[in-house]
Amino acid sequence: MRINYSPYQIKPLTFKAHSDSALLYDLINPAPKLQLPDVDKFEKITDFAKNNEIVSEPHSDFYKNPNMLASSYFRRGDLLGENPYFKDIINVFSSIFNPQNDVKKSMLIVGIGSSQEPFSYLATIKELIKNKKLTDKLDLQTVDLQAKPTKQNLRNCSHYSGYWSNEPEFAKSSFVTYAQIYDNIVLKKGFRVNDEIFNYLYKTYNNPQKSKWATRIQEEIKNYKNETFDTISINNVLGYITNDDEYYETIRNLPRIVKHEGYIIADDMCEHEFKKLDINLTKICYGIFKKH
Ligand SMILES: C[S@@+](CC[C@H](N)C(=O)[O-])C[C@H]1O[C@@H](n2cnc3c(N)ncnc32)[C@H](O)[C@@H]1O
Repeated sequence: MRINYSPYQIKPLTFKAHSDSALLYDLINPAPKLQLPDVDKFEKITDFAKNNEIVSEPHSDFYKNPNMLASSYFRRGDLLGENPYFKDIINVFSSIFNPQNDVKKSMLIVGIGSSQEPFSYLATIKELIKNKKLTDKLDLQTVDLQAKPTKQNLRNCSHYSGYWSNEPEFAKSSFVTYAQIYDNIVLKKGFRVNDEIFNYLYKTYNNPQKSKWATRIQEEIKNYKNETFDTISINNVLGYITNDDEYYETIRNLPRIVKHEGYIIADDMCEHEFKKLDINLTKICYGIFKKH
């Protein structure tokens, strides 16, 4: 029996009524004008000019299912180090990426959501390879059912507000501080991935050999040769494959295209599915499997 897997739902916004006394307080005490923060880089992100990039229509499967919209609101590795799940990812990447080893490693990300997950991964890998370039150490490929995001969309999700506004616990060097300023008022401040990381992902997304847009993984996965990737990430994607045959065929192909000693970063329920399909992988921890 297939596990009943429900993709993440968007919670409706709730508004609290403002009490009369609080309203009176706000009227008597207007908020003081904020001072510019002491940050090493200021960016005026007040120019919301229309992006002229041509984007193909999203695959129709994507918007048919309203739950798909939830993809923008969830990502594994959200807090870059504060979340115990992400510590497992850091361990996986530490065993793959070593600044002394000059062999380029390959990674496939299936289902990029709003790109927070790729940015989290790249920030981590960059921290591990230190002063080596991402282009020299990583061959990244992506597959997603959605259309290629615009540069502006990508820029928006490269920003990280921090955990309680603190800088990321891990991969500090992968971030620069920023402030969103309007007329000398700070609207928002936080962190964003550095330019090397941003440009690396942007170039990957724009390279049709590396990023397949409006593409269903259940079809694309058959085209990869055996043992192509050092690691595959496929979080919160399998649940969207509604056809059972396609679903199981995709799961069956995952260990085929990962190298020996490589990893599959997937949903926890894959443990059950791998067993059911008689696929022998080592469970490293929640949702992470190693091929021997
Ligand atoms: C819930 S999001 C998950 C995003 C990210 N992996 C995460 O965990 O934060 C699902 C993503 O999978 C993509 N997707 C859904 N079905 C797919 C399919 N059959 N083939 C490829 N991508 C798919 C969606 O477009 C979306 O980007």
